Amino acid sequence: MTTQEQGREQDHWWRDAVCYELYPRSFADGDGDGTGDLRGATARLDHLARLGADAVWLTPFYPSPLADGGYDISDHTAVAPELGTLADWHALVARARSLGLRVLVDLVPNHTSAAHPWFRRALAAPQDLRARERYVFRPGRGPDGLTPPNDWRSAFGGPAWTRVPGGAAGPAAWYLHLHTPDQPDLNWRNPEVAAEYERIIRFWLDQGADGFRVDVAHTLFKAPGLPDAGPGQHEQPDRYHLLPYYDRPELHPLYRRWRTLLAEHPGGSRGGRLLVGEVILTDQRRLARYLRPGELHQVFNHPYTETPWDGRALRRVIGESLAAARSVGAPVAWALSSHDAVRPVTRFGGGETGLRRARAAALLTLALPGAAYLYQGEELGLPQAPVPEDRRRDPLWPMSGHSDPGRDGCRVPLPWEGQRAPYGFGPAAPEQSWLPQPEDWAALTVRAQQGDPGSTLELYRAALRLRRAHPVAAGDRCRVAGPDSGAWLTFRRGRSLRCLVNFGPGGLRLGPGHRILLASSPVQDGVVPPDTTVWLRPRRAQPPSASE
Ligand code: GLC
Repeated sequence: MTTQEQGREQDHWWRDAVCYELYPRSFADGDGDGTGDLRGATARLDHLARLGADAVWLTPFYPSPLADGGYDISDHTAVAPELGTLADWHALVARARSLGLRVLVDLVPNHTSAAHPWFRRALAAPQDLRARERYVFRPGRGPDGLTPPNDWRSAFGGPAWTRVPGGAAGPAAWYLHLHTPDQPDLNWRNPEVAAEYERIIRFWLDQGADGFRVDVAHTLFKAPGLPDAGPGQHEQPDRYHLLPYYDRPELHPLYRRWRTLLAEHPGGSRGGRLLVGEVILTDQRRLARYLRPGELHQVFNHPYTETPWDGRALRRVIGESLAAARSVGAPVAWALSSHDAVRPVTRFGGGETGLRRARAAALLTLALPGAAYLYQGEELGLPQAPVPEDRRRDPLWPMSGHSDPGRDGCRVPLPWEGQRAPYGFGPAAPEQSWLPQPEDWAALTVRAQQGDPGSTLELYRAALRLRRAHPVAAGDRCRVAGPDSGAWLTFRRGRSLRCLVNFGPGGLRLGPGHRILLASSPVQDGVVPPDTTVWLRPRRAQPPSASE
C-alpha cells in the first residue's frame, strides 16, 4: 500500500466505528422454536440503529452440528436451516442498509466441522491422500502408534489429537484439533484450502457482506514438523506466541492476500471493507504486526478485554495499545466483552459494584480513540447468567473436566420486554429456550430501560451520540495521564471532550470550569465518586485539575 493510499484510509468508516456483535441464536427468535434466527434479528435490528452503532458483526449462522456454538461449520456458504435461508440473510442486509449499518460475518478458517464433506471423506476413505491432506493427519508415536504425534493441547482441555483408522498414514492415524474433536484443523500448507477460503470470502462479499471477523486468526499455520510445545508452554499466556502453532510468519502474506481480495472484489460500499482478526496474543507489538499497511484492518485488543478493573493495569495496557497501533498507523479495536468472555458486570465484582464498574468501563472504552466492539446485552448491563449444569451447551464445561463452567452464561437470550421469561425473545415457551433466562431480568429488558435516564441502555445511547459529536481527528495523539497509584486516569478525546476515570478509593473533586457531559454514576457537588467515569467539556483546552 502506498503512503497516499494509507492517507486515504484515514477517513475510512472502520477506523472509529462502533460495531455491535450479534449472536444470532440469542438475539431474537422469529419463528418460535426457542432459538434466535435471522428473521428475528432483522425485526429487531432497529435496536442497533437507535443505540447508534455503525456496523453489526454476526457470529456464525452457518450449518453446524453445534459442537462449539456454531464455530464448527459443515457448510461455509449456506445458512443453518434452523436460523433461516439465504433469502432471510438478504432481507437482513437490506434492513441493515436502510438503517445505515454495515454487516460483517464470521470467517472460521482454522477448522471445519467433523461433519464437513471434506472431513467425512477423509475419514471414510483413509487411502484417499488428497482428502486427508486437507487436514492434519499424522501417525502416532510409540511402537503401535498409540501415543499422539506431539504434546499439543486443545484450547478447551485434553490432547489436541484424536485417533482414527490409519489408512495410508500407518496402523493408527491421528488428526489435529486445537479445539473440540469435532473441529478438525485444516492444513493451510495445502493450496486447495487457501483456494476454498477465497471462494468463501468472495461468496459472502457477493451476498452483501462488508467484511469479516477472522476467527482464531493466529493459529492457521503450524510449524513444519509439528514439534512438541514443551513442558509448561500451554500454561503461560504471555508465552503463547512460542507455541509451534501460534503467530507463524506465514500468516502475514495470507492476510495481505485477503486484504487485496477485499479491496479488488467488485462492489462494496463507500469507505471500504473490513477484516478484523481475533488474534490472541498478550504482546501489543506482536499484535500490531498484523496491522501493518496492507494486512488486517483491525485486531481485537484482547489484552484490554482481559484486564481487570484496576487503574494502573488499565493505564498500562491502554498506553501500550495506542503506542503499538500508532507505530503501524492503525486504529485500536477496543472491546469489553464478547461471546467468549464473562460479562463485565460479573467480572468486575458482580452486583451493584460490578454494574457500577461496568458502566464506568463502558465510558472509558467509548472515549478511547479507535474502534469499539460491543457485545449484545452489554448495553443492558446484563450480568453473567447462571446456567444449570444440565442445560450447559459449551464444550468447555465437559472438556475442562467440569472445572470451567464455560461461556453459556454470556450467551443467554436477550430480554426485550415483559415481566418474565422469555421477555419478548420470541413466541416460544420459556422452557423451549435453547438456554434458560434468569427469573430476575424484568428490570433489565430493553423496554424497561428505554427512556430511563439512569439506565445502562440510555447511558450507552448517550455515549454513542456524544462519541460521534466529538470525533478524533487523524493524527491526534492521545496521552493518558494520572498518578502512579492508578487511583484515576484522564485523557482527551479530540479537542472538546475529556474523559476522567476514578478508580477510587476516594472521591475526586473536579477543578473549576468543567461541564459534565455524561457520567456513569451521579456526581454531586463536583465530586466524582469511586468507580465512576465522567466525560467533561473543558472550558479551555487544558487538563482538569482533578485532585483527591
Ligand atoms: C473463537 C471463537 C470461540 C470458538 C473458537 C473456536 O475463539 O470466538 O467462540 O470457540 O474460536 O472456533
